[in-house]
Amino acid sequence: MMAVLFLVFVLVVVANAKSKLPKSDTNLLEFPLNLEYLEAEFFLYGSLGRGLDHIQPNLTGGGPPPIGARRANLTPLIRNIVAQFGYQEIGHIREIKSRIKGFKRPLLNLSAHSFATVMNQAFGRPLYPLFDPYINDINYLLSSYIIPYVGLTGYVGATPKLKNPLSRKLVAGLLAVESGQDAVFRSLLYERAMVRVIPYGITVAEFTDRISALRNKLGRGGIKDEGLVVTTNNIKNIGKMTGNILVGNRNSLAYGRTPKEILRIVYGSGKEQVPGGFYPRGANGTIARKYLKSKKD
Ligand SMILES: *[C@@H]1O[C@H](CO)[C@@H](O)[C@H](O)[C@H]1NC(C)=O
Ligand SMILES: *[C@@H]1O[C@H](CO)[C@@H](O)[C@H](O)[C@H]1NC(C)=O
Ligand SMILES: *[C@@H]1O[C@H](CO)[C@@H](O)[C@H](O)[C@H]1NC(C)=O
Repeated sequence: MMAVLFLVFVLVVVANAKSKLPKSDTNLLEFPLNLEYLEAEFFLYGSLGRGLDHIQPNLTGGGPPPIGARRANLTPLIRNIVAQFGYQEIGHIREIKSRIKGFKRPLLNLSAHSFATVMNQAFGRPLYPLFDPYINDINYLLSSYIIPYVGLTGYVGATPKLKNPLSRKLVAGLLAVESGQDAVFRSLLYERAMVRVIPYGITVAEFTDRISALRNKLGRGGIKDEGLVVTTNNIKNIGKMTGNILVGNRNSLAYGRTPKEILRIVYGSGKEQVPGGFYPRGANGTIARKYLKSKKD
């Protein structure tokens, strides 16, 4: 009898798991779907030449296919790693959507031009020829440097605002894997830090420094981003080293960003009300749509 009652209790709890979350948790959990879709498509296309529409169509919710994503010219090791990350993102989308309703895949602009625009912004001048993320390992890795780290800071930022322990557990699980992806990209780039990117003659280290500085500027939330090599007057207490394979604050804790800061960065506009960049029609979900609406009012 007790066992049956317990079973009924468990079933009721499981059945209510989706609806029981406070609305604020639901909003915070759906927001990262925007980034997970972006990562899934960029990694799947980059490594396999196909995206969610071919690999897991029921996760798109019928959202439009990404613009300009394609198979990158990668060496086998990098292709293998990126494909693994692509499949991880499928898992992340599946898991988030199993907890909350979420939304369909937003329109994503993953064209070479979209990444070239970020690089031009980062350097404050146009690079010639236009930067192409899909052309080789280094360009693809530099383009990947742009993405999981933003998700990572978002998960750190969301954690203290979540009310339900199950929400926090989910975000901890997502954060751990995003951090791992970021660490792998940074390690691969660190090995190549002094390599000069052809044909620009600019080192990988400087690219990362410029991209991080751009994110700090667009996010307007202070210094939450650092390249692979820091200057000597910026050295933290990890030892007197300029190498900066992982980002962290003075005590090497990860930085957190708010949804607003993240939107300013991924839109490339520096304004959460002005879509663009990777999201021509804006990000979706209650939080992002609220900012977009506030523009029109
Ligand atoms: C999507 O399809 C896969 C099999 O292709 C299935 O395992 C999964 O449960 C489906 N997910 C949803 C959300 O329908
Ligand atoms: C946002 O998501 C909802 C639910 O999937 C959908 O009805 C709406 O069209 C989406 N908006 C955009 C701009 O993609
Ligand atoms: C994609 O981004 C590029 C570079 O910003 C832009 O020229 C192009 O118009 C964008 N495509 C769409 C459909 O928004």
